[in-house]
Amino acid sequence: MGEGISDYTKFCVDLRRQMWMAGVEEELRRLIWQIAVTGKYISAKIHESNRKLAGFKNIYGEDQLSLDRSADEILKNQLQYSGFVREYASEEQDVVVLIGKGREQYFVTADPLDGSSLVDTNLAIGTIIGIHKESIFARGRDSMVAALYITYGPLITMVYSAGKGTHEFVLNREGEYVLSQEHITLNEKGSIYSPGGLRKDCTEGHQKYLEYLEAEGYKLRYSGGFVPDINQVLIKRGGIFTYPALKKSPRGKLRLLFELQPMAFIIEQAGGIATDGADAILSLQVEDLEQRSPVYIGSRFEVEKAMSFLSANP
Ligand code: F6P
Repeated sequence: MGEGISDYTKFCVDLRRQMWMAGVEEELRRLIWQIAVTGKYISAKIHESNRKLAGFKNIYGEDQLSLDRSADEILKNQLQYSGFVREYASEEQDVVVLIGKGREQYFVTADPLDGSSLVDTNLAIGTIIGIHKESIFARGRDSMVAALYITYGPLITMVYSAGKGTHEFVLNREGEYVLSQEHITLNEKGSIYSPGGLRKDCTEGHQKYLEYLEAEGYKLRYSGGFVPDINQVLIKRGGIFTYPALKKSPRGKLRLLFELQPMAFIIEQAGGIATDGADAILSLQVEDLEQRSPVYIGSRFEVEKAMSFLSANP
């Protein structure tokens, strides 16, 4: 065995070992691992689909599930099998599904395949998961115990936080998640901005904020996929992603439970912040599954700057 390989074996830390070393409680560790494993199956489905999204027939003439629905089925089955999850709320379902026996301690939310409309363009897409205790109809700060997302890009990566920092893993060729970055920490200030929504539909405060960022030389980085766009802010150690209130949709576009809470949890654990322009995303009470919110998420300087532009131009 060459020296490089033995070094690799020595320093290779897989997901289960890292969570154990980080002191994540056993059931939660096992649950996060089970969810991370679904990333392999979902990515296999993406490859199998060969860019066809829905409404196609398989070789036997049966209707194929859309990729989103397939990803949802995979997750639901895996969570049911884990034995740790009482209820499952998915962006693909209208109601919360009871998948446990009633005594399990975790409640899981999922956006099984966010940005799936980007599959045909071969851009990155992702899975977003929130893990709660007690109930999902609460403030994220009170109910969330962990969050993770999986990015299906040139590499499959998984970023998780169980309240003990934010860590990134890469799926290797042996099918194991190997630690690539531990305790990711955002800088106070970044240099990229990722703005959703049409500028003409935004409020005056938001438009002025974007003009400020441009005048300051921030670089535009927007793919139209929430997972890769947030991942870019995290991995580049700063900057901002925003999907603001629009004149026709004052609550913005992104869903609080399925998209915003998990990302807010992860970004806060990396030292960043996430607000709706005034209040922390994790302080917002979840009332229903469809609830949306404007969002400003990323490094402290840019998010606080956005809040000052919005409050000066109400
Ligand atoms: O909510 C789905 C989603 O595709 C996100 O992944 C993404 O950030 C956003 O919508 C893109 O919206 P738009 O097409 O308006 O830029």
